[in-house]
Amino acid sequence: MPALYLHIPFCLRKCPYCDFFSRDDCAALLPGYPELLRRHLAWAADHGWRGPLDTIYFGGGTPSLLPPPAVGELLAAAARHFGLADDAEVTLEANPGTVTLERLSGYRAAGVNRLSLGLQSLAPGPLAVLGRRHDVAQGVQAVQAARRAGFANLSLDLIFALPGQTPAELEAELDRYLELAPAHLSCYGLTAEPGTPLHRQVQDGALALPDGERYADAFLLVHERLTAAGFEHYEIANFARPGRACRHNRTYWERRESLGIGAGAHSFKEAGWGERWAVPADLAGYAAALHGGGEPAERLEGFDRAGAMGETLYLGLRTRSGVDEAAFRARFGCGVAEAYPQGVRKLQPWLALTDGRWRLTVDGWLLYDRLIQEFL
Ligand SMILES: C[S@@+](CC[C@H](N)C(=O)[O-])C[C@H]1O[C@@H](n2cnc3c(N)ncnc32)[C@H](O)[C@@H]1O
Ligand code: SF4
Repeated sequence: MPALYLHIPFCLRKCPYCDFFSRDDCAALLPGYPELLRRHLAWAADHGWRGPLDTIYFGGGTPSLLPPPAVGELLAAAARHFGLADDAEVTLEANPGTVTLERLSGYRAAGVNRLSLGLQSLAPGPLAVLGRRHDVAQGVQAVQAARRAGFANLSLDLIFALPGQTPAELEAELDRYLELAPAHLSCYGLTAEPGTPLHRQVQDGALALPDGERYADAFLLVHERLTAAGFEHYEIANFARPGRACRHNRTYWERRESLGIGAGAHSFKEAGWGERWAVPADLAGYAAALHGGGEPAERLEGFDRAGAMGETLYLGLRTRSGVDEAAFRARFGCGVAEAYPQGVRKLQPWLALTDGRWRLTVDGWLLYDRLIQEFL
């Protein structure tokens, strides 16, 4: 498989909007976790997973809670078991409140060459609404420290469409981000995920997220401002300087094989029409499975031909490179318009075939959740 994902399910404190699997009892559980990941890597190598790896991604939770030597040992173990391409992309997600120059230099020396900083905002109001532990100064310092540590390939997260955020405030936010000259930006509209404190606040009427029209204005403002500044809007939520698109995420959107290590991690196997597997979000169960020598993951779903066709469009149409018509035909024995004549008709004018690839327009991305139902 070309891609390896390692899930680090620990955070110093849960943010009120986040439903990613992570726990805040780090002191007790984090020290023993890297050993579980190493066992899992060895187990996967013994059970048919093969490299070489083009990309490795430490995601979370808060991977920057791992000490740099633990990251180095995990990278060495991954290279030993699977092999690692010379120019492999190795990303680590870091939370600005957890990093120092020394720690970031340690990650760089350990082999991490791409850093994704969970900045979320560069203004005090939004950081407070989002319940973040770090302040604006710590965010800027984290960016500067990342540069000094040698991370030229630096990605910053931004959350927009916050309650009450005006277009002028969002524009000022984007200007502050651009001043920091990142190679890559991930821009997410705030969503109220069921089960989170933010969701309860929205349900109770204590907070109101922007309506559809305001969200659309904010999304288009982000698109226009960042593309005008030279970024390619290469996926619904992602913008990159030329050559800086995230290679790891591309493997997901292209349905290529990826191994997920760690409690809560997902894998994709190319067998048949594709299979999705997930390690349950349960640390005690994860440790028990690994100590017992069993399979830590459960099979979530196996695709049939129709399911694989739908997912190829579901994932590919999120990206600017879109879905290759010839590759689709070679894989499934028919073109997209033959497989979905009604869907392709209904999706005019948002869906087009140009240069042999099916793509959604930026306006189509705004309606993505609704439009994509035609293929599922
Ligand atoms: C798993 S987090 C990793 C970053 C790191 N844990 C941190 O927060 O600094 C991935 C990103 O998803 C985004 N995110 C998480 N929950 C979200 C939500 N409900 N709405 C919008 N964006 C969200 C945030 O930008 C976050 O940085
Ligand atoms: S946004 Fe990041 S730091 Fe906050 S709870 Fe989610 S994973 Fe943890």
